[in-house]
Amino acid sequence: MASNKGLNQANKQKKDEFYTQLSDIEHELRHYRAHFRGKTVLCNCDDPRVSNFFRYFAFNFEALGLRRLITTCYKNQDPDLFSMNTCERAIWLEYLGDTNGNRVPDPDEIGIRPLQGDGDFRSPECVALLKQADIVVTNPPFSLFREYLAQLIEYGKKFIIIAHQNAIHYKEVFPLFMRNEIWLGYGFPGNASFFISKYEDVATASSHREGMIRVSGVTWFTNLDIPKRHEELILYKTYTPDDYPEYDNYRAINVNKTAEIPMDYGGIMGVPITFMDKYNPEQFELIGTSTTEMARGAPYLNGKRIYERILIRRRKQDEN
Ligand SMILES: C[S@@+](CC[C@H](N)C(=O)[O-])C[C@H]1O[C@@H](n2cnc3c(N)ncnc32)[C@H](O)[C@@H]1O
Repeated sequence: MASNKGLNQANKQKKDEFYTQLSDIEHELRHYRAHFRGKTVLCNCDDPRVSNFFRYFAFNFEALGLRRLITTCYKNQDPDLFSMNTCERAIWLEYLGDTNGNRVPDPDEIGIRPLQGDGDFRSPECVALLKQADIVVTNPPFSLFREYLAQLIEYGKKFIIIAHQNAIHYKEVFPLFMRNEIWLGYGFPGNASFFISKYEDVATASSHREGMIRVSGVTWFTNLDIPKRHEELILYKTYTPDDYPEYDNYRAINVNKTAEIPMDYGGIMGVPITFMDKYNPEQFELIGTSTTEMARGAPYLNGKRIYERILIRRRKQDEN
């Protein structure tokens, strides 16, 4: 089993150079097709020479009915990093669709322009491009994730971005889930994927793939409506005090697996973070996380600290 050790190390060392596979992008974005018609899409952490996000939108421009595709490339300060950004300056690029009828983005159809700065998504010229976008789609640098998401919220943008599930717990991020301003997308099979990278892969031999790093706990954050978030989780377990003990330090019962949420309990329940993948705001209310709500910042059962929990309550209590 691979762990997210590689990602945590990457985060600490600001190793942000790993690239998303086209198949993972296709797997998620097929659920959002209707949202793209007539829209300007921005990929703002994407070197078009290597980004499969750029490739996906350029090659599907007509099929999705896009109006405009903008991509900005970050000029790397470190020439040893995988992207090998040898260009002296960062660039931005605009694609307005196929003009010669071959339904393929040709070099002369793609407008490449220099940026004044390094292409940092926070720079005024990149913010000016952000303002022109309807939907932002990318895998942003995990080391700057809080700032990246905050900027999308500040400018009121729609987005589909790759995130690590640990980010759900961030104190700046969870309130967005509570207010139903963001939610999880369809996700990666098994909540893990391989990213194209030169970093050392910590995956075991059986799951190792050359030139790739396996990252577990990856997911998609979005604020575009998708059928998934209206699907109801079928509950079948009934509450007993023995099966669902109360925490030592918070008035709520502990539920070890999302599938085992009791159908007849009306109070607050602590559930694993994987619950967020099944969260339907019409069925459940988010109360908070164990980090922010519980004394000592973590759940305790019979004196023993257990894993972080999301605190929830069922909405439709009288229907079961
Ligand atoms: C996880 S990689 C993903 C790259 C690409 N979006 C993809 O999915 O294949 C994050 C990218 O963000 C870029 N990046 C790092 N800091 C940035 C910044 N401040 N502004 C814009 N891009 C940045 C990195 O160079 C890196 O290529």
